[in-house]
Parts: sequence; structure tokens; C-alpha cells
Amino acid sequence: MEMSNHIKTALKVETIIDLDTLYDRAFNVLKEAVHNGSKNFGLATGGTMLPLYERIRNSELDFTQCESVNLDEYVGLPKAHPESYISFMKQQLFNEKPFKKSNLPNGEAQDPHEEAARYEALLQKMKLDFQLLGIGENGHIGFNEPGTAFDSETHVVELEESTRIANARFFNSLDEVPTKAITMGISSIMRAEQILLIAVGEKKRTALEALLKGEVTEEIPVTILKKHPNVTVLTDLVI
Ligand code: PGA
Repeated sequence: MEMSNHIKTALKVETIIDLDTLYDRAFNVLKEAVHNGSKNFGLATGGTMLPLYERIRNSELDFTQCESVNLDEYVGLPKAHPESYISFMKQQLFNEKPFKKSNLPNGEAQDPHEEAARYEALLQKMKLDFQLLGIGENGHIGFNEPGTAFDSETHVVELEESTRIANARFFNSLDEVPTKAITMGISSIMRAEQILLIAVGEKKRTALEALLKGEVTEEIPVTILKKHPNVTVLTDLVI
């Protein structure tokens, strides 16, 4: 499904070269959402989120009346593995800033497809107020790799080699990086009322350029955000 390059977009792009300032701004966008009554938060993992979660841990924000859903989880990695996304979230956020309820796909489920359906049913019942997003070097959001249908719901994905290589830095070797994941679909992400996308570092330039200057195409999943009414993009890249 290709669309015209000339669609009107409501993207709010803020280019902030200094990373401390950029992450202070990210924290403030989130804090404002909390103060404005957001209750259900879509959370993300990945290196991009670390300075933001550090700011949240050190803040007064209280999520004990809020619920969280995470974008994705590796399939087949034990929950206790330090690189599972449930472990990441506990270490980076939940241990210090618990939510009333936190949801992630269960990467240890016997039938990952059934688990994806369970997760989708949960998302369908929820009004997602705020979604945090990083961006893959290949333009993925969540683990929605290039070519994923824009109307996709939660599903099991085969990770691209480039994604596994990008994430190998967190594991002892490339072989240890799981080959599959369960990810929230693009349609679930697009249902969020408000989205905060953080794209930091040269490696994200091509994907960000596609979002800011390219056409909306399923070949570069992040480009769908052009069609969302309330997305803030924070980047240190001058495009
Ligand atoms: P990163 O991952 O924050 O580790 O770069 C982002 C992503 O793949 O969505």
C-alpha cells in the first residue's frame, strides 16, 4: 500500500543536539502526559530508552494508578534472562517505579501465536493514552520489520538479520540473539492517543530521513507515523 508523498502530516519534530537536553525534554513530554491524566502507557525497550528511564526512576512520578503495555518480547528467551524485555523493564523501571499492572507478551508461551492473540485481545480492551517508541535502523517500530502490513495486529515475527546484528551488542554472540519475537502490530501502535518517538545517533539517520522526507510505505514501517495526529519526534540529527 503506497501513498502519496504529499500528505499533510502533524508530526512535531524537535531537533536537540545536546543529549542531556533532549532526554530532559523527553521526560517533560511524558510528565505532561501524566499530569494531563494519561493512565495507560505503551513502553519500549532498547538503548535509546535508557536515559529516559533513568530520569523517570529519579523523579517524583508515580505510576501506581497506571497500567503499562510493552511493545514486544523475544520468543524463546527465558524471562529470567537479563536481556529478556521483561528483565529490562524490571531493571530499568518497574523495580523502582511499579505500575498497578504491567503487561508484556510472554516469550515463554508454548504457543507464541496463541500468546499474540491473547495480547492483542488485551490491547483491544485498553485505551492507550501514550506510546513511547524507538526506531530501528531499518525503520522498524516495535519489531514490525519492513514489509509488515500497516493494518497488522499483535503477531509473531521472524527478526531481520540486521535487527539481530544491531541487538547482538547486548548478548555474548549473534547466535544467542533470538530469531523470533512477539510484537504489537502497527495498527495497535497507531491507536495510541499520543506518541513520543526518540531517534538518536547517526545509525538512525536513514530511517528518520524516510519518516521526515520520504513517502508512506510499508517497506519502512515508521513512515506510517506521518498519518498519526499526535506524534512528537525528538532527535539529535539534523535532517
Ligand atoms: P535501540 O533500538 O534503542 O537499541 O537503538 C531501537 C529499536 O530497535 O526500536
